[in-house]
Amino acid sequence: MDGARTPQTPPVLILLGPPGAGKGTQARMLEKEFGLVQLSTGDLLRAAVAAGSDAGQAAKAVMEAGGLVSDDIVLAILRDRLAAGDCAKGVILDGFPRTTAQAEALDEMLAEAGQRINAAILLEVDDVKMVVRIAGRFTCRACGEGYHDTFKAPKVADTCDCCGAQAMNRRADDNPKTVMSRLDAYHEQTAPLIAYYTDKGVLRRVDAMQEIAAIQGAIGALARTVVA
Ligand code: AP5
Repeated sequence: MDGARTPQTPPVLILLGPPGAGKGTQARMLEKEFGLVQLSTGDLLRAAVAAGSDAGQAAKAVMEAGGLVSDDIVLAILRDRLAAGDCAKGVILDGFPRTTAQAEALDEMLAEAGQRINAAILLEVDDVKMVVRIAGRFTCRACGEGYHDTFKAPKVADTCDCCGAQAMNRRADDNPKTVMSRLDAYHEQTAPLIAYYTDKGVLRRVDAMQEIAAIQGAIGALARTVVA
C-alpha cells in the first residue's frame, strides 16, 4: 500500500477530522497502545498562550474566535516539537496539518528526515452532533485525559480516572458560537486535505459516530498495519 514504512523510519500517523470528531481521544489511546507520541497543535498553542510567549499572544484572539492560527506560527511550533528526541518513537499528529500549506511544509520536513506520512486517518462524523460532544467536554488539567458529561464521565465525579487529580478544566473555545466558526474553518481550509491525502494514497476513513471503543478498534487495526 502507499504509505508503507521501512522499519528504519519512525511511523507518522495523522488524525484528520472536524472539531469534536475525537482526534484527541483517539490519539491518547494510540499513544498508550503503540508507544507513539501525540503531537496536538491545539495543545501546543494553548501552552504558548498560557506561557504568554509572542506566539501565544498572537494566537490567543484567533483561537478564541474559532479561526485558524497563521501557518508560520503553527509551523514554527510544530517544527520545534518534532525535533525533540522522543519523536524518534513515531508520532500521531492531532489537529495538524489544517491547511494545504501546512501539509506541504510537513511533507518537506519529513522528507528532510527521510520520513513520510504512513496514514492520514479521517474521522468521519455528523457536524450537528459535534456541538453536543464539545459542549460536554472537560479535561484533567494534571494529566490531560479527556472526558465528557454523557459519553465518558469519570468513575468518581470531578476526579481523574488516570491520575486521581481533582483538576478538571473546560476550554474557553468550547461554546456553541465558537464551535460553529471552528466547523466553518474546518470545511473551508482543512477539508481540502482529504483530496490531498487521497491523491497520495494514504487516506484511511473511519466511521467516528460509533462508540469510542469501537472507533479505537478500527483505528488500532489501521495503525497496526503501519507500526508493526
Ligand atoms: P484543537 O485543540 O486541535 O481543537 P479541534 O480541532 O477543534 O478539535 P477538538 O480538540 O475540539 O476535538 P477533537 O477532535 O480532539 O475531539 P475530542 O477527542 O476532544 O484546536 C483548537 C484551536 O487551535 C483551533 O480552533 C485553532 O484556532 C488552533 N489550531 C490548532 N491547530 C492548528 C493548526 N494546525 N493550524 C492553525 N490553527 C490551529 O472529543 C470531543 C468530546 O467528545 C470529548 O469530550 C470526548 O470525550 C467526546 N467523544 C470523543 N469521541 C466520542 C465518541 N465516539 N462518541 C461520543 N463522545 C465522544
